[in-house]
Amino acid sequence: MKALVLAGGSGTRLRPFTYSMPKQLIPIANTPVLVHVLESVRALGVTEVGVVIGDRGPEIEAVLGDGLRFGVRITYIPQDAPRGLAHTVAIARPFLAEDDFVMYLGDNMLPDGVVPIAEEFSRHRPAAQVVVHKVADPSAFGVAELGTEGEVLRLVEKPLEPRSDLALIGVYFFTPAVHEAVAAITPSARGELEITDAVQWLLDSGAEVRASRYDGYWKDTGRVEDVLECNSHLLEGLSRRVEGRVDAGSVLVGQVVVEQGARIVRSRIEGPAVIGSGTVVENSHVGPHTSIGRNCLVRDSRLERSIALDESSVTGVRELRDSLIGRAASVGTTGRGTGHHCLVVGDHTRVEVAA
Ligand code: DAU
Repeated sequence: MKALVLAGGSGTRLRPFTYSMPKQLIPIANTPVLVHVLESVRALGVTEVGVVIGDRGPEIEAVLGDGLRFGVRITYIPQDAPRGLAHTVAIARPFLAEDDFVMYLGDNMLPDGVVPIAEEFSRHRPAAQVVVHKVADPSAFGVAELGTEGEVLRLVEKPLEPRSDLALIGVYFFTPAVHEAVAAITPSARGELEITDAVQWLLDSGAEVRASRYDGYWKDTGRVEDVLECNSHLLEGLSRRVEGRVDAGSVLVGQVVVEQGARIVRSRIEGPAVIGSGTVVENSHVGPHTSIGRNCLVRDSRLERSIALDESSVTGVRELRDSLIGRAASVGTTGRGTGHHCLVVGDHTRVEVAA
């Protein structure tokens, strides 16, 4: 079996971050989503991976390289524009050839893994095996309607009035039968070739389509709140590891990772939290549920349930919560008693100051 990992798309819901980086490289517990995805693919025993990339491809290639570091071999498949999930299958045809494959959306996190579902697919080899998960807001996703025996009755992409609460989540298993379906469908109302429509086409043509329930933790990391929520969840699974320097005036509580070259000075780090290499935390309180990237500076601040990306700084800020701070961004103060805020804010940025 091969894997097709989708890392193109536009990421408009994650602006402003996606102006400067592809959404699939946003770090969760200090590791890019796409690296988590490759690890999940590798756990299936799959080593031949096609990665679909869009105009942010070079940055993705810089992080993943040839894939050997992650135990896989990557073939990059450029897509000229985000023309839909089924379009990626069409352009990946030369790579996929006549092999079965797992299609994995590069912004989806399934940390509990899909090994039993892959085994089920290999046992039965249906034309398509989709993965479903109960959600509160099905209209934001592809939705599956199942019969009393668990058989797939109908699949609809982002229905206004969903007929079930089972969302299609970002992993699909296919035999080469899917290629005929992909060639047969036409673009949806949003102008994309939908994989949901291709699977529905298979159903309509009498092919076997199975659905497996995934009851583990799942997140589509498409929005800031989802990224923060997923980060908190993954941090919960951390084991304590302290490789950096922690001075006598600091306290580490619970599951804390202090990477090599990081320095904690007169501070309290409350787990779960991770402090990246080369970062300095001084006279501050960080955590719980907080990831600080590499080469950051946190000074005289209090930071909770947040993510700070590499090379950013937070200085003199007493209460920062539920925040995502971009690469090399700085958050600071105008000085005691000045009574005003000073902001240099880029396009599509969100700032909320205390009332
Ligand atoms: O997250 C699960 C949902 O993913 C499913 O419930 C939906 O049925 C499915 O259509 C998909 O919906 P989204 O609207 O969330 O897909 P999104 O545009 O975010 O794309 C998913 C991934 O695929 C993302 O990593 C970007 C990549 N992509 C997307 C398109 C449209 C590509 O590489 N090329 C593309 O043309």
